[in-house]
Amino acid sequence: MKFTNSAILAFATTALAAPSATTPVKPRKAVAACSSAVTLDATTNIWQKYKLHANTYYRKEVEAAVSALTDSSLAAAAASVADIGTFLWLDTIENIGKFEPAVADVPCEEILGLVIYDLPGRDCAAKASNGELKVGEISKYKSQYIDPIVKLIKAHPNTAFALIIEPDSLPNLVTNSDKTACKNSAAGYRDGVAYALKNLNLPNVIMYLDAGHGGWLGWDANLKPGAQELAKAYTAAGKPKQLRGIATNTAGWNQWDASPGEFSTASDAKYNKCQNEKIYVETFGAALKTAGMPNHAVVDTGRNGVSGLRAEWGDWCNVKGAGFGIRPTADTGSSLADAFVWIKPGGESDGTSDSSANRYDSFCGKSDAFQPSPEAGTWNQAYFEELIQNAKPSLV
Ligand code: GLC
Repeated sequence: MKFTNSAILAFATTALAAPSATTPVKPRKAVAACSSAVTLDATTNIWQKYKLHANTYYRKEVEAAVSALTDSSLAAAAASVADIGTFLWLDTIENIGKFEPAVADVPCEEILGLVIYDLPGRDCAAKASNGELKVGEISKYKSQYIDPIVKLIKAHPNTAFALIIEPDSLPNLVTNSDKTACKNSAAGYRDGVAYALKNLNLPNVIMYLDAGHGGWLGWDANLKPGAQELAKAYTAAGKPKQLRGIATNTAGWNQWDASPGEFSTASDAKYNKCQNEKIYVETFGAALKTAGMPNHAVVDTGRNGVSGLRAEWGDWCNVKGAGFGIRPTADTGSSLADAFVWIKPGGESDGTSDSSANRYDSFCGKSDAFQPSPEAGTWNQAYFEELIQNAKPSLV
């Protein structure tokens, strides 16, 4: 039997993890990668062919969470989450190290989802996800973050990759340009996003550029400038063939087709037609088309199972009472929505509730935010349990 390099790596990793001569080593299935180079046709909905891979990094987080549970039905429901596809966030230069272990067990019919998230001056309108690169460190972003990821993807031509490009970044330039941090970050965001789109434009990659959600760029006044901002990045990148459109509903979310939408009775609702995410994908999609950018979407349904939880539409931090939403599927009922996917790994925090922390953002201390919560990206066991208990469709 012929093994691909990644299959050998998968074996090696397993062998290293269980070196005892008496314990039989349970080999990982030799399912990795395809036998020839993958080409994704970005004029089609690739999610009808590829399933989002349940990556080993999230699997380990979930398995650790399961071992801390004593309630057996909750534990069984929790364990099932390890098999649900989620995106893996490469949120620092160091975390590019998560790439190789994650790519090692991706079967040919699955696609590995990665989030590209390390722009200089990251999260300019909030504090919880402020990153490692400072405003101005754009050459470091290019040479030490994007270039190595490009190299890794090129080294795995037989694997399919779905990339979400820089959540929150361009939407913040549309609606938060009055904030000094966003003003200072703007040039680096535009340059960095265009560089990412241009260089990650590889045949085995499909890309989606983050477009916030309906409660953000869906306001009448934001639709056109939003679409133009994204289209500008696409044009600056040389109109990369592998960009399929946008990713929505990750930082902040709405239910897919709830009608009336959660905030439909608010006094300002008349200024926003996008009261659910389906209307947003279709309305913003039309604006993107006018602006000259590909307009298909993937929609994060990882945490939007429950509605009616937020005091305000813009509340984004560890929303209390949230539940896992629809499992990843290409069956969306909308020709513009390629797939529902889980982008934010449920259980990883949005931000710390410790008001003395450097990255404390007041949104994480609001009464509708789950507390206590750890630093952004780190595991929040109690929140994960809540997501399971409140999941819709049910997991328990
Ligand atoms: C947040 C964090 C980031 C993490 C991601 C996924 O935005 O800032 O570090 O990787 O969420 O949990």
